[in-house]
Amino acid sequence: MYDDLHQERVLILDFGSQYTQLIARRVRESHVYCEIHPCTMPMEAVKSFQPKGIILSGGPSSVHDEGAPVADLEIFSLGVPILGICYGMQLLAHQLGGAVEKADRREYGPAGVDIDLAGDLFYEIETEGLRVWMSHGDRILRLPPHFRIMAHSDNSPAAAMGDDERKFYGVQFHPEVAHTPCGKDILENFLFRICRCRPSWTMKSFVDSAIRSVREKVGDDRVICALSGGVDSSVVAVLLHKAIGERLHCIFVNNGLLRKGEAETVQRVFRDHFEINLIYIDASAEFLERLRGVADPERKRKIIGNLFIEVFEREARHIPHARYLAQGTLYPDVIESVSFKGPSATIKTHHNVGGLPERMDLELIEPLRELFKDEVRLAGRELGLPERIIMRHPFPGPGLAIRMIGDVTAPALEVLREADAIILEEIEASGWYDHVWQSFAVLLPVRSVGVMGDERTYEQVIALRAVESVDAMTADWARLPYEVLARISNRIINEVQGVNRVVYDISSKPPSTIEWE
Ligand code: XMP
Repeated sequence: MYDDLHQERVLILDFGSQYTQLIARRVRESHVYCEIHPCTMPMEAVKSFQPKGIILSGGPSSVHDEGAPVADLEIFSLGVPILGICYGMQLLAHQLGGAVEKADRREYGPAGVDIDLAGDLFYEIETEGLRVWMSHGDRILRLPPHFRIMAHSDNSPAAAMGDDERKFYGVQFHPEVAHTPCGKDILENFLFRICRCRPSWTMKSFVDSAIRSVREKVGDDRVICALSGGVDSSVVAVLLHKAIGERLHCIFVNNGLLRKGEAETVQRVFRDHFEINLIYIDASAEFLERLRGVADPERKRKIIGNLFIEVFEREARHIPHARYLAQGTLYPDVIESVSFKGPSATIKTHHNVGGLPERMDLELIEPLRELFKDEVRLAGRELGLPERIIMRHPFPGPGLAIRMIGDVTAPALEVLREADAIILEEIEASGWYDHVWQSFAVLLPVRSVGVMGDERTYEQVIALRAVESVDAMTADWARLPYEVLARISNRIINEVQGVNRVVYDISSKPPSTIEWE
């Protein structure tokens, strides 16, 4: 199961902290491969993972809560270094013979910590007034045997503790968050000085090993891939093509709800440039027909999703000897579904071709299952994908259909597509493209009065949406310069027939959303 290129692995046991993914990201940024598993991971699996080090994450519980998650005591006799973070540190104390108590007051937010004992963990870290991020209610009352205090804060006499002999360490603060500026150095001290890992996890090593394992798994069979032109499916397609060449069959469905020029770009890049077997299906008419008279966004989504599967299946059946379906599942989707908090419903339903693998008796191939989004971009670069695709903004599966309020019609799509293209062009030209998460046009179902030349007009309104975000969970409207806004507005009103007004959406998420639907 574990490829030799991943030889040096760190195991992160998840006790439910909102920061667990960040720990993994920091470790990987330091070029050490790691995986997050639920804290209930069976001991056999822990052993076969052969971690060079184990990190116990934070978590929302108190060790005194009934049913609070604990670590399997056997991990303490594996001879593997352990770093407990926040709740993870309290577990070390609680389970190894120390004591944890409720602190007088919760310590939440920035704090100053003084180092009492540098050792390997705080090697070359400043010793006084270290700025760290705290988020805990309990604190260590008594250290477990063989541990020594390594740092303290006003509120935590033991802000860090360690047992050099067994290489067990605990920090009360969160080294994985940006608010702990030296956190990366502390984590690297754990990885390199304590666990003795080598920084061998690189995108090149990932890509090489992913190509090899796809080759081994697929053998002489064929693979189908649903290409959307987005970052994830593009990287999957190129990676698979490198692995199995013409035995990869990509299917790209034009649902008529794409941005201007998108269908042409995908064909040019993947068929002409990468020479990938690409089946292009123009199903626009079918989609438009099914969407006729439908204004409700959830119904639009359902219709589009179902028809996509229908069209895809119809085409895929013509590909002989196909045994696998490739999909761009990413690591956050995987973690979501294995978190110890229980399976979550937020698996990428809008991207996966729901139910299709079972219906067509296809096995899934998910070569990006181990990667975070930024790592996927690096992999794409490693594979030679054009920068435009790598840095592409997310685009919703239901496309322009959820960017026009009300019925989806061919003329409305035309207006929206033209306005949207101008926005994209101007955002790119202004240098803002890489600063915003998404920028696009929304066509509103109202008309307003305008004047053009001597004539009174009564035409449609375009709303411009441009937001900054890191994960789409929250977002704020981008403070685009007035000149950029002015250029976009002028161009849309002058160049797009049927539009006489442009407004800028200045709502944040929450309480608004990014899409208007
Ligand atoms: P909202 O509008 O909920 O969007 O703030 C958050 C992010 O999700 C994208 N989005 C979708 N993507 N199918 C998709 O594939 C959908 O139905 C869908 N709805 C929203 C949206 O573009 C934004 O990035």
